[in-house]
Amino acid sequence: MAYETLMIEKSDGVALLSFNRPDKKNAMNPQLHEDMTNALEELRYDDQARAVVITGAGDAFCAGMDLKEVFHALKDQPARYDKVIRLATEWRGRTLRYFPKPTIAMVNGYCFGGAFSIVEGCDLAIAADEATFGLSEINFKGFPGGAVSKSLANLLRPRDALFYALTGRRFGGKIAAEIGLVNFSFPLAQLKTETMAIVHDIAGKDSSALKATKDAYRFSLEMTWEASMDYTNAKEDELAASQAAKNWKDEGVGDFVAGKFKPGLGGHENIKK
Ligand code: COA
Repeated sequence: MAYETLMIEKSDGVALLSFNRPDKKNAMNPQLHEDMTNALEELRYDDQARAVVITGAGDAFCAGMDLKEVFHALKDQPARYDKVIRLATEWRGRTLRYFPKPTIAMVNGYCFGGAFSIVEGCDLAIAADEATFGLSEINFKGFPGGAVSKSLANLLRPRDALFYALTGRRFGGKIAAEIGLVNFSFPLAQLKTETMAIVHDIAGKDSSALKATKDAYRFSLEMTWEASMDYTNAKEDELAASQAAKNWKDEGVGDFVAGKFKPGLGGHENIKK
């Protein structure tokens, strides 16, 4: 499918999804929220996409919500505004978080306000050292609304979250890595190569095991210890059932017992290579 505000390229099992409004610093307008909703639905069922990398065309990752087309243009259209905010919240806050495949935000440039929820919704995030992050809402007399405050609460230490939200100060990729907003930062020239090396490593793993890994972590965050034990024990059986004859106990553990590989030193997928 073609999207007005997105580009999707697929190779070697990885979908590279780029926000494609470079002239507007990839700010999220209503069309982009609709496009992301549809694109994530498409990639969910696309066997050629075992993992998804999200980035921005041009020199920005995403300048946050489109202040003109959303907050300004729709301020007197409550129903339309509500629909756009619902879509915006859903794809970043829930769809990405519980997406059945690994997702990586590749932050190549400006990353402001609402874009923090994209970074947080993805499983991993890699930034360019040169990227510029900022919770700029305070600068326009707002606050990190919608999905953003919960994203800050999920990911950052309280001191960092409130410092950047209250001051609106900008910071670069290296600081983003230091405070745990992203996993790593690399010089922009190496960003894509380094990100692709990580994503290909992940995309080569068993897809059912990847989904179980995400589910076990994400849902355990919301559960009591007892509920989590019960859930993950049941999940082990569900995983084996979904892997059928090549299930983790018979094939994965079985091949270790047979001396074919050492899981501590590498993946089962490397047996075939
Ligand atoms: N919403 C709407 N339009 C935006 C936008 C946003 N969040 N961010 C950038 N744009 C638009 C600009 O208005 C400009 O449009 P125009 O060419 O029609 O005038 C275009 O993108 C290029 O931006 P410009 O400001 O000229 O580039 P810059 O490099 O000088 O500055 C930013 C880039 C991102 C620092 C600046 O545009 C900005 O502060 N944007 C708002 C960021 C923000 O507060 N986001 C949080 C929203 S929740």
